[in-house]
Amino acid sequence: MAPRGISTSSSITLHVNGEKYTLPVDHRTTLLDALRERLDLTGTKKGCDQGQCGACTVLVDGRRTVSCLQLAVAAEGRDITTIEGVADGDALHPVQQAFVEFDGFQCGYCTPGQICSALGVLQEHAAGWPSAATQDVRPEAGVPALTPEEIRERMSGNLCRCGAYVSIVQAVAQAAESTKEQLA
Ligand code: FES
Ligand code: FES
Repeated sequence: MAPRGISTSSSITLHVNGEKYTLPVDHRTTLLDALRERLDLTGTKKGCDQGQCGACTVLVDGRRTVSCLQLAVAAEGRDITTIEGVADGDALHPVQQAFVEFDGFQCGYCTPGQICSALGVLQEHAAGWPSAATQDVRPEAGVPALTPEEIRERMSGNLCRCGAYVSIVQAVAQAAESTKEQLA
């Protein structure tokens, strides 16, 4: 129990998929639980709840984040994108489209996290960020090609119990191709 006079909850405003939500939260509430249990945005999945599986990945200010390790209070005022905010109305995002075309899922439980992570990968790659698989990290070497090895390394934080990895890598490669000009 908190010492008398010390509050354990606050009213916060979360900016999710372009909407503002003001809600009281216990300070220990994770962003994942706030999204799923309080805002009913259940597209974001809870797998391990300890930062190991990537199922809960969302974008916070454009960066991929495992929402089970972020407190909701720390996300206040930041721009959060969940899987529910990725499509443009009925039009799937190219990353979503590629997952459908290449069968990048089986049960689908990991898929929202895979797609949010792939969005982060494409932006990080377009910005020239190297990965552990990048052979030449000198600035003059430029943006590394997004090879299957690069994709596997960059997506390695997202586990898939169904083992759909081969198709996921193909889907991310296809999505990289179709968003190349948009992200350049
Ligand atoms: S539920 Fe967050 S990383 Fe597994
Ligand atoms: S599609 Fe089932 S866990 Fe990935």
